[in-house]
Formats: sequence, C-alpha cells, structure tokens
Amino acid sequence: MAPTDSQVHPVIHEGRVAVITGAASGIGRAAALELAKIGLKIAVADVNEDGLLQTGAEVAKIVGEANVLVVPTNVSKLDDVVRLRDKVYEAWGEVGVLMNNAGIGLNGTSWDGLDNWHKIFDVNVFGIVNVQQTFVPSMLHQENPAVILNTGSKQGITNPPGNAAYNASKAAVKSLTEGLAHELRGTPESNLTAHLLIPGWVWTGMTGANSGAEKPQGAWTPQETVLYALDQVRQGKFYILCPDNETRREVDQLRIMWTAGDVAEGRPALSRWHRDYKPLFEEYLKDGLSQLD
Ligand SMILES: NC(=O)c1ccc[n+]([C@@H]2O[C@H](COP(=O)([O-])OP(=O)(O)OC[C@H]3O[C@@H](n4cnc5c(N)ncnc54)[C@H](O)[C@@H]3O)[C@@H](O)[C@H]2O)c1
Repeated sequence: MAPTDSQVHPVIHEGRVAVITGAASGIGRAAALELAKIGLKIAVADVNEDGLLQTGAEVAKIVGEANVLVVPTNVSKLDDVVRLRDKVYEAWGEVGVLMNNAGIGLNGTSWDGLDNWHKIFDVNVFGIVNVQQTFVPSMLHQENPAVILNTGSKQGITNPPGNAAYNASKAAVKSLTEGLAHELRGTPESNLTAHLLIPGWVWTGMTGANSGAEKPQGAWTPQETVLYALDQVRQGKFYILCPDNETRREVDQLRIMWTAGDVAEGRPALSRWHRDYKPLFEEYLKDGLSQLD
C-alpha cells in the first residue's frame, strides 16, 4: 500500500537503511518486517542465529535478497558490534534507523542472582552502550537525517517490584538515552535524533509467545507496537510510551506521576506497593481518571 503524505518521513522512507538488534524475535523481528514493507534496506542482528536466519528470509521475501544483511551479533561483545557496523557501511554507506532493541529478561533480586545481574547489564545496558558508541560517530557524519531508538521499559520508570535487576537495567537505558538526546541536540550539524521506546505488554519471546500459547487479550502484538512506535517517531516524539490492551496511556501517565511524587513528596520507596500508601494510590488513580473521563 502506498504511504499517505502524513506517513512520508525522511528517515522512515524507501531506500534508507535500518539496523535492528534483537531481530530474531518479537519486537525486533516485527520492526524488520514493517520497515521492509516501507522499502528500507534491512540489517538484522541477533545472538540467536536460527531465529535471525528466519527473520532474514522473511525480510528478503519483501525487499529482495540484495536488500537484507543477516549479521549474527552478540551486542554485549564490542567486536561483534563493530563488525556489524562495518558490514552495514560497506554494503550501504549509511544508517537511517538504528533500533537498539536486543534485551533479556532474566531474574535478579536485590541480594540474589548476581550472575543474572551481570548478564542482564551486559546485554540490556552495555549492549545498548556498545551499539550507541559504535554507530553514533558514523551516523553523525551523515548529511541526511537519522534516528536511533533505544528500547527501554515502563519497568525502568515505575520500577514495579519483582525483578530489581531488569528494572535497574531499563532505568539505566532511560537515563542514558535522555543523555544521548540532549548531547545530540547540542551537537552542531547533528541530523541525528534519539528516541526512547517504552513498550507496553507485548506478546514476544520474552513474555511467553514462543511457548505456542495464545496471545493474552491484554497484550499487544509486536506489530502493533512497531506501528505505534514508527508513528511516534514520525511525530518527533522522544518518549514513545506505548499502551496495550490492558493499560491505556492515561493510566501510565498517572502511575508515572505518582512514582515521581515518591521523590518529590518524600514518600517511602515504591509507595504504590506500600501497605500504608496503596489505598492512597488507588484513590489518586480513580480521581485522576474520573477527571479525564
Ligand atoms: N515484550 C514486552 O512486553 C516488553 C516490554 C518492555 C520492554 N521490552 C523490551 O523490548 C526489547 C525486545 O524484546 P522482545 O519483547 O521482543 O523479546 P524477544 O525475546 O522476543 O526478543 C529479544 C531478542 O533479543 C535477542 N538477544 C538477547 N540477547 C542478545 C545479545 N546479547 N545480542 C543480540 N541479541 C540478543 C534475543 O535472542 C531475542 O531475539 C527488549 O529490550 C525488551 O527488554 C519488551
């Protein structure tokens, strides 16, 4: 289907180049397919080689073999990431859309699972940093505009109890992506913008989709998430806060405001889940939503 005028964007555009990490599954795979449908050339990277080959084959059906690069990559290894960048620039000489998306969801609680803490930070934080440090200097030299999307999480903002290590890694992604956006804004001649993708609940490998179970009603598909994200990038949004079928944007807004209020108003940490504050939060949410409705 031909894009409408409002969908035409200088970066999300036929002939430009997209690089997507974590492209063997879930959001990354959906991004590869959706960007291929728009006519971008697609470089897919992932540590899961079988899944990656499958994505590459599906993308090739849309854009043709010559417009796909399949590059097995462990984002936590800088050498792999440098190799990925070199292959993309050798083949196509530019990057328009960089989706820094690979992530893992292992468990690590506050005083247990140290191995998992290291693994999670190696992928979710240093993977993102490796990609950013390797690609941004090259992308800055391009005259044409480009975008970098780092994938964070609502868990990095509202910090729900249950997986301290994952939450901390995604809080770091929020922080470092905000820093990147600011630094790019202050760089003369920069035509590169940064964006923080904050998915809602998405039915992917990370949330059980590979078990063969049916998608729960409350979750979005990876495709819905990607289409929403692309639309937000077209609108120039930095925070791409995605809803899902269970949580609408207004609920996220109120949860985020309450979380910030813990610091500003001196409430206990994670007061939303604190016995004495839980009822106050529920009331705040109810009042907030009734004012909006
Ligand atoms: N699914 C959700 O509900 C949800 C919500 C918020 C954020 N996210 C984030 O979205 C991103 C994509 O995850 P998804 O939900 O599509 O899950 P997924 O498991 O389907 O996809 C993640 C991909 O990353 C790859 N990967 C893992 N470690 C890697 C490494 N070291 N190098 C390269 N690739 C690696 C995996 O092999 C996998 O293909 C992640 O950053 C995740 O934290 C997902």
